[in-house]
Amino acid sequence: MSDPKKLFIKTYGCQMNVYDSERMAEALGTSGYETTNAPEDADMILLNTCHIREKAAEKIYSELGRFKGLKQGNPDLKIGVAGCVAQAEGAEIMRRQPMVDLVVGPQSYHRLPAMEAKTRAGEKALDTDFPEEDKFDHLPKRPKPTRGPTAFLTVQEGCDKFCAFCVVPYTRGAEVSRPVDRILTEARDLVERGVREITLLGQNVNAYHGASDGGDWTLSRLIWALNDIDGLERIRFTTSHPNDMDDALIAAHGECDKLMPYLHLPVQSGSDNILKAMNRKHTAEQYIRLIERIRAVRPDILLSGDFIVGFPGETDQDFEDTMSLVREVNYGQAYSFKYSTRPGTPASEKPQIDNDLASNRLHKLQGLLTQQQRAVQESMIGKTVKVLFEKPGRLEGQMVGKSEYLHAVHAVAPNVSRGEIHPVRITYSESNSLGGELA
Ligand code: SAH
Ligand code: SF4
Ligand code: F3S
Repeated sequence: MSDPKKLFIKTYGCQMNVYDSERMAEALGTSGYETTNAPEDADMILLNTCHIREKAAEKIYSELGRFKGLKQGNPDLKIGVAGCVAQAEGAEIMRRQPMVDLVVGPQSYHRLPAMEAKTRAGEKALDTDFPEEDKFDHLPKRPKPTRGPTAFLTVQEGCDKFCAFCVVPYTRGAEVSRPVDRILTEARDLVERGVREITLLGQNVNAYHGASDGGDWTLSRLIWALNDIDGLERIRFTTSHPNDMDDALIAAHGECDKLMPYLHLPVQSGSDNILKAMNRKHTAEQYIRLIERIRAVRPDILLSGDFIVGFPGETDQDFEDTMSLVREVNYGQAYSFKYSTRPGTPASEKPQIDNDLASNRLHKLQGLLTQQQRAVQESMIGKTVKVLFEKPGRLEGQMVGKSEYLHAVHAVAPNVSRGEIHPVRITYSESNSLGGELA
């Protein structure tokens, strides 16, 4: 048998891309590829890209430029672009960067082996269809190695919400839920390979409606089924839309013992005018009432969110409304972005607001969010949390893992192995992590 070919994949964007990159590596495994961390050793370089903001998308072209030298030194090297930039720009990528051999959209990864063969025959390969078949059904089943204690599992993909700023409905397509059986089989397989924590993924994960013999399952029903898998200790899910938080899912946060007390629930803005212009279809008040209901069943839940400042038409008052909402909710963690104009989205046609003004608002909002994050971290000092240990830390004998609240926690734990869960008493808080002692 000939030596395996080497595949280098670089992943940008969201967790779903991380998951998809693993699937692409499996698919190309059938074409004789092994993954490598060194691009200079690779026979194929794949960039799994993100189109969510202009900066993310433009970065891909400079990154491709950097691989030019490698391609000149090794004419057999194939370069591919996958993910949401591939979907959005398609053949345009090959026009801008003629050294690109392959462009594949997120719904066509099962076709990668055939596309790779085409590039080996000296042709370009382009596929940005939204095929009828499920890309996950056709991925090869191979014996899989053991793996770390945490894993992602895609349950839903695509989005029908069409927020006015967002490219995802165009790059990932319409909402599709994977069937229940496939998900449960994949979850059991992960647990057999050493996984203790599964994060269910979807662009609109709480809109999950998966088919099963017993009819149509919601996300909460799926979570309860996962709760019964022996050896699986923790369940998380991301990302949710406020309008799809149904009663049963809220209740699960109070009743389901493996569902972790952490919820990423983006609101984007605290102003009703802006929420309306964004097509979010709820008010700030409705979001706050929702948070109250979740906290009523799980008072210690750590809340996380996403915010956009500088959306077209955002006034000083609109921005102040966002600051007030943040003060009222008190987030333990959050992402905030300056609005970025995306081609083809409704908001891109509106007059844009001043860039310096938007930067200023972002700075203020991030100041407040950081302050809240620090305060929530400091409130953990003296408390005992359960840590799922994932890997060795920087210091001798130290291990790092995550608490129930998704805080990174360091502890001196020389006799603890990856995948074990132990109580840790928190003694200090650093900028992005906590530290403590085994209790
Ligand atoms: N499906 C998720 C998030 C998808 S994108 C949801 O509905 O919340 C992740 C985040 O990127 C969004 O929550 C939003 O805050 C941000 N984002 C999306 N489009 C953007 C744009 N055009 N400019 C700036 N931020 C954007
Ligand atoms: Fe984008 Fe809105 Fe869909 Fe989230 S809900 S993926 S922000 S369109
Ligand atoms: Fe980016 Fe596509 Fe994810 S645009 S955030 S990689 S769904």
